Amino acid sequence: AYTAEPFVPSRGGLDALREAAAGCRGCPLHRDATQTVFGEGDAGARLLLVGEQPGDQEDKQGRPFVGPAGRLLDRALEEAGVDPAQAYVTNAVKHFKFGRAGSGGRRIHKSPTQREARACAPWLAAELAAVEPELIVVLGATAGKALLGPSFRVTRERGAVLEREVHGRPERVVATVHPSSVLRADDREAAYQGLVSDLKVAARALA
Ligand code: URA
Ligand code: SF4
Repeated sequence: AYTAEPFVPSRGGLDALREAAAGCRGCPLHRDATQTVFGEGDAGARLLLVGEQPGDQEDKQGRPFVGPAGRLLDRALEEAGVDPAQAYVTNAVKHFKFGRAGSGGRRIHKSPTQREARACAPWLAAELAAVEPELIVVLGATAGKALLGPSFRVTRERGAVLEREVHGRPERVVATVHPSSVLRADDREAAYQGLVSDLKVAARALA
């Protein structure tokens, strides 16, 4: 099975993890992507946010949530009363998965499979162990399934503080939609307000 396991160092902090992740070949996604996009933020962050995978901009810049979804997320966090600077931000999958529109055309995001998310999970587990956040915010179904198991459903679990075992540790988790889904929604304003209201639950849990 695909797995990042042999690439994850057993010692060292976030810097050692980031350096090792740059050379990960635990699944085929490293082949077409530009680079590994590892998590970013303070090792002492109280909040850890988990997205799906880097997008086009993130793949080029090597940093999570720097594209349109990231800008929307930052705005929603601020509106909910969470300082984005106090959060550690990462993704369930560390390489950009994409197809091409036409021959050699624009890169189109493709959702990672459960297999790819499972392969990449050792990095997320190592980030969680290094940061030891007080609260995890799960952004969308891919992150939810990666952390809480395949039966996770955003619609059922969003907007509440869940107490769950995550990679063998008891954690508090708030789930919400992925910011990209807000950008695609028919009623963007309603979808955005839903995201903000879930993030307010996270802000209160940290207060
Ligand atoms: N979407 C994600 O899930 N993660 C990113 O880093 C950017 C967009
Ligand atoms: Fe490794 Fe994850 Fe990239 Fe696959 S997606 S190569 S498991 S870092």
